[in-house]
Amino acid sequence: MSKAMMDVRGPGEVADTQMPSVGLGLWKVGSENLGELVHEAIRVGYRHLDSACDYGNECEVGEGLQHALATSSCHRKDLWVTSKLWNTFHEPRYVRPALERTLRDLRLDYLDSYLIHFPIALEYVAPEKRYPPGWFFEPDAQSPSMHSIKVPIAETWGAMEELVDAGLVRTIGVCNFGTSLLRNLQAGARIQPSSLQIELHPMLTQEKLVRFCHEEGIAVTAFSPLGAPSYVPLAMATEKESLLKHQVILDIAAAVTRTPAQVLLRWGVQRGTAVIPKTSQPNRLLENISVFDFSLSADQMLAVSKLDEGRRFNDPGDFCEQAFNTFCPIYE
Ligand SMILES: NC(=O)c1ccc[n+]([C@@H]2O[C@H](COP(=O)([O-])OP(=O)(O)OC[C@H]3O[C@@H](n4cnc5c(N)ncnc54)[C@H](OP(=O)(O)O)[C@@H]3O)[C@@H](O)[C@H]2O)c1
Repeated sequence: MSKAMMDVRGPGEVADTQMPSVGLGLWKVGSENLGELVHEAIRVGYRHLDSACDYGNECEVGEGLQHALATSSCHRKDLWVTSKLWNTFHEPRYVRPALERTLRDLRLDYLDSYLIHFPIALEYVAPEKRYPPGWFFEPDAQSPSMHSIKVPIAETWGAMEELVDAGLVRTIGVCNFGTSLLRNLQAGARIQPSSLQIELHPMLTQEKLVRFCHEEGIAVTAFSPLGAPSYVPLAMATEKESLLKHQVILDIAAAVTRTPAQVLLRWGVQRGTAVIPKTSQPNRLLENISVFDFSLSADQMLAVSKLDEGRRFNDPGDFCEQAFNTFCPIYE
């Protein structure tokens, strides 16, 4: 493993500049009982939370955080909290107010990581009008659509750098970028991106992008590390695509006496990425973080990696047209 690669760390081992390898994803976790879920996650050992303005639940996450910090031996400095700048706040003048709203909702005075959520800039929507703003400009219009605007990533990045200068965020990074955009960002950056969050699972291994980041010292976080299940209810994947029922994964799970989910998460951690599985079921929290007491053999790692078929479930080039009446490709 190269020096730049992220260490495989236990869930509670936060070093100054490194995020713990397993975090709790918070997309599509309903508000009900979310405070208790966050509290329970911290109780069982999670020290990394993956939040975003767009998830519409930062207030409830904040309640859970406050409760956990007040009632457990976990201190703020032990946690790694990530949130994300939404697409409507890319113009530099909106970046700091967007972060301040997230901090207020999360009841925190700094973030460990603030990420640009998508390389997509949309027209500003005032928080008093709608928060979170979502993808549509006017959801109640007769034919609602997204309103793209042209904001250079470098300008948004400059405002992100000022958040670091102001001590409001420890590190800054991006999501859903490929190597070309990353190179362009790096070329003009005063503060380099410390992490990239992308869709990664055995059906979409993105070997070259992960390797590029590791060689550049950019930590990689895998979103949707379990693959299809997150997208089945959204009709963006089918049950048949679930890796949790794939024979290769079932066989390895039986061989290592762990669950299929643990095999997928261990594969992600063992290849040097962080993973941020989401669950709204408290009884799955411990399962998803218990991936540090076993390992996969080289053959098992290879067998899982061979499931790659370039299957991207979360593609704005598809879902923006289907769900938001607007063609918006970013990867082609
Ligand atoms: N930056 C971005 O653009 C972006 C995009 C997507 C996601 N994300 C982040 O990444 C996180 C994770 O991705 P994701 O939520 O899309 O997908 P995921 O974590 O791969 O999968 C979540 C799905 O798997 C189920 N699940 C969780 N643990 C399980 C287990 N042990 N056994 C069986 N099923 C299990 C969950 O159901 P239950 O809830 O019922 O357990 C849910 O349906 C998100 O929550 C979000 O924080 C970021």
